[in-house]
Amino acid sequence: MSKKIVVVGSSNTDMIIQLKRLPKPGETIVGGVFTTAAGGKGANQAVAAVRAGGDVTFICRIGSDMFGDTSFKGFINDRLDISGIIRDEKEPSGVALIFVDEKGENSIAVAPGANGKLSPDDIYKMKDIIVTADILLMQLEIPLETVEAAAKIAAENNVRIILNPAPARHLSDSLLEKISIITPNETEAEILTGVAVNNEEDAEKAAKVLMQKGVETVIITLGSKGAFAFNKTFKEVIPSYKVKAVDTTAAGDVFNGALTVALSEGKNLKDAILFANAAAALSVTKLGAQPSAPYKSDIKEMLNN
Ligand code: ATP
Ligand code: RIB
Repeated sequence: MSKKIVVVGSSNTDMIIQLKRLPKPGETIVGGVFTTAAGGKGANQAVAAVRAGGDVTFICRIGSDMFGDTSFKGFINDRLDISGIIRDEKEPSGVALIFVDEKGENSIAVAPGANGKLSPDDIYKMKDIIVTADILLMQLEIPLETVEAAAKIAAENNVRIILNPAPARHLSDSLLEKISIITPNETEAEILTGVAVNNEEDAEKAAKVLMQKGVETVIITLGSKGAFAFNKTFKEVIPSYKVKAVDTTAAGDVFNGALTVALSEGKNLKDAILFANAAAALSVTKLGAQPSAPYKSDIKEMLNN
């Protein structure tokens, strides 16, 4: 039986333009195709987790505007537990402007809006949701003090913490020592550790820096190459699946959501990463963040092929 997951994080509306290539500074490119889609790292991970079969409560702040209404309806449709969702009366919902090129690569700018107001006080008021969960999953698209407050409650109550340190920023030792699993991509791993990750040897060096700060397990995601996992008893690059990339936006989010579900179901680290790689590979074959998050049946089919 899967255990309770709580995701604390951001929710955005993504405004996407697909183009042949990404514009350079000062350049205008005409001829793109525009789409809107539900996004935000926290919401993407929560939705990916619930679709992968998890029992998920999502804590976030969205505006009392049209974008917030649409996001809220989406969470209900996905059967997320919405008891941790706050409607902000003043701030607008978060928005991300995203360019996607024909190789599926992107460039993203975020206006956090209400996400920037998710406060430690909000978290203390919802302490019970965290205390009664088995795993807390977070990212860094909300104020750092809020992430720290949630981590403190989780650590004091033996709730396992998975941190996806994206977008990258410097993290205190007191936060890192509470983390069970950290999941940076190569760039984030370099920002966190000062070690440029170009191969497995570098990945191990970077992982050791984080483990010295008290993180139990480090998983460095390697894009189309898969993921490198390292802890005291395990070291392996677990390759991803070959797919045609349409849009890599939220590949990392889907990876984290699916990983958390697999671990909540008691899968071992390697099997959990295989499940996460399959889910994330499926997500890059579709446009948009939440529209691309696969369902459990699709992930299982991918694993069996
Ligand atoms: P993003 O910022 O695009 O959401 P990320 O930079 O956080 O992603 P990545 O390391 O690029 O994270 O990708 C996360 C996971 O997604 C990888 O570990 C892999 O499982 C999967 N993945 C990413 N890109 C591809 C791809 N082109 N083909 C197959 N799987 C992919
Ligand atoms: O990780 C992808 C997400 O980053 C997008 O959905 C966008 O909203 C930004 O938050």
